[in-house]
Amino acid sequence: MIIAIDGPAASGKGTLARRLAAHYDLKRLDTGLLYRAVARAVLDADGDVEDPDARRLAARDLDGAQLDNEADLRMPGIGEAASIVAADPAVRQHVLAFQRGFAADPQGAILDGRDIGTVVCPDADVKLFVTATAEARAERRFREMAPLGAGLTYQSVLDDIRRRDTRDTSRAIAPLKAADDALLLDTTELDIEAAFRAAVDLISGLRAAI
Ligand code: C5P
Repeated sequence: MIIAIDGPAASGKGTLARRLAAHYDLKRLDTGLLYRAVARAVLDADGDVEDPDARRLAARDLDGAQLDNEADLRMPGIGEAASIVAADPAVRQHVLAFQRGFAADPQGAILDGRDIGTVVCPDADVKLFVTATAEARAERRFREMAPLGAGLTYQSVLDDIRRRDTRDTSRAIAPLKAADDALLLDTTELDIEAAFRAAVDLISGLRAAI
């Protein structure tokens, strides 16, 4: 079974994907980490993510081992840099190949990101689109990140989320949007346990209907 989970930043899709992967015994790829790793590699080489050559080179050389230091990839600022490199079609082409290789595992997989149900795995068995209001997402992200970044405020996190939402939904290639056949899950009023149970119910309903 392939499960595709898409949604905006801090919608809860990552935690949900982790829980579903354990529940259905599937391996999981957080595809946002791939774009974060490309951005990180550019910055580590003293490059500029606005420079097409620098980001394309980093995407070409993308290696799974770069995902190991997840805490580093989640540092404040890397999400914004990732959304800049992610708007480049040549970068996406390299990252697409990596994701499709992961999804080709006969045991199945869960991938979460922005374009999994629409572009990466359009034939996924299950597609979930996870949303929440920008304010609820900023609140969650602020609570997660406050211990990491000195000077981080709720307002700066909300501004970052809104900026990324705009860039991710309006870019010409693979914009963030729900696939026509995606099941929608709004987590604004749900804690992770409730969101997990709602997702399992949606998936069970879908499988029973097949
Ligand atoms: O999910 P996360 O916040 O880690 O993703 C970082 C950035 O990577 C997103 O803002 C988005 O621009 C990009 N991304 C993407 N397509 C995906 C996953 C992430 O464009 N499938």
